Order: sequence, then structure tokens, then C-alpha cells
Amino acid sequence: MGFAGRDLISINDFTNEEIEAVLDLADQMNSALEEGRRIELLRGKDMATLFYEPSTRTRGSFERAMHKLGGEVISFPEAQTTSSAAKGETIADTVRVLESYADIIVIRHPWEGAAKVAADYARVPIINAGDGGHEHPTQTLCDLYTLRKENGTIKGLTVCLWGDLKYGRTVHSLIYALARFGAEVLCAPMRGLDVPEAVLRKLGSEYNYAPKKVKPDDLNSLMGEVDALYIAPSKPYSFPLPSPDFDTTSSVEIDIREALGKTDVIYVTRVQTERMTKPPGTESKESYPIVNGRFLQEFKKKTLVMHPLPRVNELAYELDKYPRSVYFQQAAYGVPIRMALTALLLGASEIRVPEKSAPLVTKTVYARYKGAFGVECPNPNCISKQEREKHYISPEFKMLEGEPLTLRCVYCEHETHPPFIATSEWHQGVLENRRYYSSDSFMLERIKPENLIIFGSESEAQAQGFKRSRYATTHKKARR
Ligand code: NCD
Repeated sequence: MGFAGRDLISINDFTNEEIEAVLDLADQMNSALEEGRRIELLRGKDMATLFYEPSTRTRGSFERAMHKLGGEVISFPEAQTTSSAAKGETIADTVRVLESYADIIVIRHPWEGAAKVAADYARVPIINAGDGGHEHPTQTLCDLYTLRKENGTIKGLTVCLWGDLKYGRTVHSLIYALARFGAEVLCAPMRGLDVPEAVLRKLGSEYNYAPKKVKPDDLNSLMGEVDALYIAPSKPYSFPLPSPDFDTTSSVEIDIREALGKTDVIYVTRVQTERMTKPPGTESKESYPIVNGRFLQEFKKKTLVMHPLPRVNELAYELDKYPRSVYFQQAAYGVPIRMALTALLLGASEIRVPEKSAPLVTKTVYARYKGAFGVECPNPNCISKQEREKHYISPEFKMLEGEPLTLRCVYCEHETHPPFIATSEWHQGVLENRRYYSSDSFMLERIKPENLIIFGSESEAQAQGFKRSRYATTHKKARR
């Protein structure tokens, strides 16, 4: 499949071969920039940058990229107040207006799934420049480009993801890409800010991958020994952090010193305070090690230090002179990367993408569930919740295989386990026959996916005229 006319919402929209093609073209763009050659591939084309959240690098480099390619930009840097969103216009309507002014739209939005909705409605390509805490695929392209430039290859590298792995959208896109390119991922989350379960599950089920994990307690004890500085989220978000809750799906025991000693890259992230709605925990004196020169001694001599930026207080300024600190370079690569991407999506550059060789990705085809009744996405920041009252988006899910019944929201990818099910087949329109069952009962296997009706609560099932069956309480073993 060519690139022209496509959207980039998730890093998983591109195959490994396609990602490499973007990086190859970025190399050509980078050389042209270095040599001062003009590459006016997009003369006569317009880009709209629609940013509902602050940005320096992403918007700046997209706009610069467009100018460098001879195109023009219509810019909405504070779209939340300067676009008609302030009057209550939906994202769907805004992009349908902008598509008649621009050939491509770059959108950043605080709600997860917003870029997907834009892509569902716009006829021009949509690029996700960050949707809430969900994904930031073009940052990942910059990260992969930097890794490839610095290390030659991504395969086999050990990359330690550091900091806020829960709300940090850059690490969510990056972790998929690292897994797909055969890197080893070591997660060092701040307490309570671990990689979301849904991301881990997707990594496991679709990419057959489980990252290793450093426990915050281990980190703290290590930092104690090396007498390093500590950070805690700064005010007004100096929340007490919760007690450790580690993912049990990937409980790989690791020795902290040994693990850090093998790390080729430390990818530092800031605490995404703007996405925290409530204090994440209970303990009051929690802290997290700052990455500084002292701490870096725990790593290999040549460990690369990366950060998507902006930094707040998690990465010491003393590291700026360390030769393997590449965060400003990472940001600079934003221009050639976004030049390459924009030229490809607008069909101005063609690059041969080899057919997939041995796919690392297990392509799982999921049944879809777009219920008439109210199973809702559990994520309050999901676009399907935020735009719900505007009545143009209804909740929609992919149904995962296996038990318990798991629905993954098609917008934000958060997961929910609805408690009750029914079938549209057996009651044959007779109200009296309509029964609901526990989703944990054997009925889940009996009902064909196309006949499945799912309820978020018992009262909802009853409101729809369904009656309680004898299998409405959880009893997996109870078979007739
Ligand atoms: C990141 C973002 O917006 O998610 N910034 C960026 O685009 N380079 C990282 C961050 O804000 O922490």
C-alpha cells in the first residue's frame, strides 16, 4: 500500500518496512537541508496545524517542514480558544471545514481518540500530533530516527523507559515500535505511573512481547547508595504516590544493577501533571531519582540519553555536555522526519516499500462491538465520552479473544470488562424470553459474536426489557 492519502493516528498504522521508508526519506531530506538544497515538493499545498494543547517542537517542526518543502501553513496554535471549539463546535465539524482550506491536517488534542475522530470525518490525511495520554506517533519516528543514526540499528538495543510511563503518550507509541523492531525494553516507572495494562496486553497479544520492569523500590535503594538527587512531581501536583502495584503479567525478576549496566539507551520523560485528575496514591514521601551525572555511572559508558522534551526537573542540566545526550538532536530531527512524512502522505514523494518479510506482528482480527445499549468507555478522557452529548459518536469496541470478556475502545484503546450479556437470537422478539447472563458464565462461549448484546450494568439490562436469568450471577462452572 502506498502512503498517499493515508492518516497516521497510531505508530501501528505503519508496518516496520513503511517506518523504515519514512526514515530513509528523512535521511534524504536531512542531507538536502544540510547542503542547503531546495526541495519544493509541496509548492501549492497547504497544511493546517490544529493544536488544542501547547507545543514547541511538534508544531514548530511541522510548520518548518512544510515551509521547507515549499508549502504553506494555516496555523491554530491555541485552537481551544481561537477556533470555533470555543463556541462548542465538534472536532468532526472543525476538520470538515478545514479540509476545504488545507490538503493535510495535523492535530494535537487533550482527549484520547480525538485524532481518530478527525480521521473518520476528514477526507484529507490526518496526522496525530498527540491525543491525550494515548499516542504520539511522529515523536516515535523522531526517536527511531535518532536511535538509527546513533546506533546504526534498533534491533537488539536495550532501551530503558524512565519516568511517567502511564500518561506519557510518547512512550506508548515508542514501546510498540521498540517491541516491533526487536529492541529490549526495560521500564522504570515512577511509582503509580506504570505502563497502562491495556498497552501491556496489546504488546503481549499482538506483538508477543513483554517488557522487563524495574521496581521503584529497587531504584530508590540504588539511588540511596549512589547518593543521588531525588525528584517528586512539582506543585501543584505534588501528589502522594501510591504503593507499588506491579503488573503481574510480566513479572520478570531482574537485578537492577545488572539491568541498568546493560542499558544502551535511557529515554527520560517528565511527569505529565496536566493529565492527572486526582492524586495517584497514598504514601507521602515518595520520590524518584533524577537522571544526573552521578546516576549515569550506573549505565554503560556509551549509554545514549534521550528525552522527547520539554524537561522539567527529571533530567539534570549537567548532562547537556555529555556527548551521548541527544535530546536536542532528537528535536532537530523533527524537521526532516516531518518533511518526509508530509511529502509521503501528500503523494509528492514515492518510495518503494518492500513487501513484508517476516512480520513480527501477529495480526489479530477482532470482532467489533457497537452496542445499541450503553456500554461506555471507562476512560473519562476518551473522545467518545467527551463528545458524547453532541450525539455524533457512539461507543465502539474491539472484542478481545479469551476471558474475561474484554472490550477495547476503538478511540482510546482503554479496556473494559462489562458484567452482563444477552443474545439477540433466542428471544425471537418475545419480551418474556429476553434474559441476561453474567459475562463470566458459560453463555459467553455459547452466544455468537454477531448476536451478542452487552450491558454495562444490571439496571441497564433491565431498562432494555431483559430479565435476570439463573446465570446472571458469576458462576463460570455452573453449566446445565
Ligand atoms: C511530548 C508531548 O507533547 O507528548 N512533547 C513533544 O511533542 N516532544 C512530551 C511531553 O510533553 O512531555
